[in-house]
Amino acid sequence: MSGDDRELLRHHGDVDAARGLADFAVNVRLDRPPEWLRSRLAEALDDLGSYPSAEADEAARRAVATRHDRRPDEVLVLAGAAEGFALLPALRPKLAALIHPSFTEPELALRNAGVQVERVVLDAADGYRLRAEQVPDEADMVVLGNPTNPTSVLHPAEEIRRLLRPGRVVVVDEAFIDTVPGERESVAHLAEPGLLVLRSLTKMWGLPGLRAGYALGDPRLLADLGRNRPHWPVNSLVLTAVRACCEPHAIAESQRAAAEFGEHRAQLLAELAGLPGVEVVRAAEAPFLLLRVPDGRRVREALRERGVAVRRGDTFPGLDADHLRVAVREPEQNSLLVKAFRDVVERG
Ligand SMILES: Cc1ncc(COP(=O)(O)O)c(C=O)c1O
Repeated sequence: MSGDDRELLRHHGDVDAARGLADFAVNVRLDRPPEWLRSRLAEALDDLGSYPSAEADEAARRAVATRHDRRPDEVLVLAGAAEGFALLPALRPKLAALIHPSFTEPELALRNAGVQVERVVLDAADGYRLRAEQVPDEADMVVLGNPTNPTSVLHPAEEIRRLLRPGRVVVVDEAFIDTVPGERESVAHLAEPGLLVLRSLTKMWGLPGLRAGYALGDPRLLADLGRNRPHWPVNSLVLTAVRACCEPHAIAESQRAAAEFGEHRAQLLAELAGLPGVEVVRAAEAPFLLLRVPDGRRVREALRERGVAVRRGDTFPGLDADHLRVAVREPEQNSLLVKAFRDVVERG
């Protein structure tokens, strides 16, 4: 990518998906929130008659704190992880190192605010593995995703901790970590200075339209992060959802879903990797797979003609038009994807 590539960085999977297509481009687990969560949100409609209260905010933060073994003052409720990225410039970094290939929203937010960024592009031949020593010493902010969109790679918590040092903020986007059994390698529970973890309710709970998530970090860091937020930055429904999704029954449901994702992914991976010319990143731990196919652009278009939408890969720094990302869905839907892929790569 060259010149001002911000238009490409702004590309999202929802643009690849379109009405009528089987959607393997967007990675949200459910097409609407589960029934129990819908009733909680419906009950909370009555709260819309008043401004979101400090008590409701505190109750949400307490629920998050209990879930992650933190203190309520180490929690900031956000309008999605995306708001967390938008707030990063408030920390006034001088040089932000972005670990790529990865979700591009943090880079955009930082560049749009005039922050100098440096891309640290992980090596495909090394399995897109994080190596802390690749990050420039002078970076006073490092941003990475775990597990990473779009590679699906889960970095070891130990390697992430190696990035920490005085005067540096390490931002870990854990938007997908609730799809990993046991939330293995999560650093959400670690009260380390300079560690800022972003979480999202979007993917697990079918809530992209609500905009709900939270940050975990040192209270001073959170205060700096939120310095320029408006009054009542998140609405009462968001506070309700955050609280509800931290309850033990919700955690249990997300863990069941994580186990299912693991099974479905293993099956899909084996089938796709068995097709001629299709390479799959095998160390996959998220509910999507990164593929490489010759003539990727044509493959994506041919899949579309067969009613299947997949996410283009070339808008992610470090990837090109031969990279495609596909969501892991229920086995029946996954079979449709495999069948369409087989048609395209075997028959052209
Ligand atoms: C890796 C990653 N992080 C964060 C987000 C944004 O999450 P939210 O919906 O909570 O803003 C996305 C959304 O696509 C994502 O893919």
